[in-house]
Amino acid sequence: DLKSLWGGRFTGGMDPLMQLYNASFPYDKIMYAADLQGTRVYTSGLRKLGLLTDDELSEIHRGLDLILQEWEAGKFEEKPDDEDIHTANERRLGELIGRGIAGKVHTGRSRNDQVATDMRIYVREQLTELKKLLKELLSVFVSRAEVEIGVLMPGYTHLQRAQPIRWAHWLLSYATYISADLQRLEQIIERVNLSPLGCGALAGHPYGIDRDFLAEGLGFGGLVPNSLTAVSDRDFVVETLFWSTLFMNHISRFSEDMIIYSTAEFGFINLADAYSTGSSLMPQKKNPDSLELLRGKAGRVFGGLSGFLMTLKSLPSTYDKDLQEDKEPLFDALTTVSHSIQIATGVLSTLTVNEDKMLAALTPDMLATDLADYLVRKGVPFRETHHISGAVVRLAEVEKVGGIDKLSLEQLQSVDARFGEDVVAEVFDYEKSVERRSAIGGTSKSAVLDQIARLKKLL
Ligand code: ARG
Repeated sequence: DLKSLWGGRFTGGMDPLMQLYNASFPYDKIMYAADLQGTRVYTSGLRKLGLLTDDELSEIHRGLDLILQEWEAGKFEEKPDDEDIHTANERRLGELIGRGIAGKVHTGRSRNDQVATDMRIYVREQLTELKKLLKELLSVFVSRAEVEIGVLMPGYTHLQRAQPIRWAHWLLSYATYISADLQRLEQIIERVNLSPLGCGALAGHPYGIDRDFLAEGLGFGGLVPNSLTAVSDRDFVVETLFWSTLFMNHISRFSEDMIIYSTAEFGFINLADAYSTGSSLMPQKKNPDSLELLRGKAGRVFGGLSGFLMTLKSLPSTYDKDLQEDKEPLFDALTTVSHSIQIATGVLSTLTVNEDKMLAALTPDMLATDLADYLVRKGVPFRETHHISGAVVRLAEVEKVGGIDKLSLEQLQSVDARFGEDVVAEVFDYEKSVERRSAIGGTSKSAVLDQIARLKKLL
């Protein structure tokens, strides 16, 4: 069957299920533009070698433009024999400009270097898009932190009330993760952006094609320097999946915090209706489904990473059809991450903060460290002050006075005589506690403003 790309040595037809099993067209057709772009530049390279005439080249480019228009208009006609996007585009080119000329475009090229090229072009584009979305999410974090810098809340360790912090500081803790994601993304894009084109099936190009010319024409920053690696390297897929997994982990932890903060028991935040759903049975319910899905989808993306790593391990060099299994987890992760960033941006920009509830959740015992620090400032070693402050907490409990701030100065001095008149004003003030943490990275206003300024530089 001369119609198939590889039919020359075959006589029998394919098992129909095998045909379906083998085909990647249903999901790799989203790379149609990258595939056409690759062929356009590749044929220009063939022209340089004298393997095509000027007329042939312009016919080919005309045909490729027409195919692009068909795809963009949703008018590309799919055929049952279209095995993948490469086969489909080449089949269509033959129909449009004649198989005599179209039959020359694949000279010296293999689907092995072709698919690796298409994937890298496509992934590069998608990651660049994600970068934009990520910056929008970051800017919501930053502007909320700026506007709501005055709001205080409990900071937690072990999900137990620990020390007072600024709500803005909590926000920026996630912005800090996301800024690292942004930097990591930029680094990954550089490694994705290397050209495998001109490596043939595995051994290299038999007509001495100018690989630098191809790479430049396709906007690549460099070449994959070994032809065997060029056709079999899917580390850029693994890195993208890992990046996506780590990003989703950050979003998942962020969501978990917000799910807790939005419960009636906490009541720190209210999700907008746009990102909540009701219950089919309980009329009073407003559920944080957006956050639960952000948390849940982290698992799905990680599944894609672990699955594809399993596919890759033990593959012999160079191209093996197993590699076709790179696409579905990759495309799924890219879509999931894109949607997740946008949902997280929506959730964060529309939620409202219950400042009073946050303030009411602050308790004087969260200032026990500050009480110890008070004595440190009077020259007492911290190990000792920790013990003294602990004894104060115990005394307040035994005396049932309702918090360490309710003890009289006499009671405090019964624990340690070095407590003075100024202890109430100095220690039992949440704002002062927060403002004392002014070293870089801390929760004081100046330290938070400094974080905001650093993040703004990335936007
Ligand atoms: N659809 C294939 C893939 O995604 C294209 C490469 C096929 N190459 C081959 N020698 N069978 O991997």
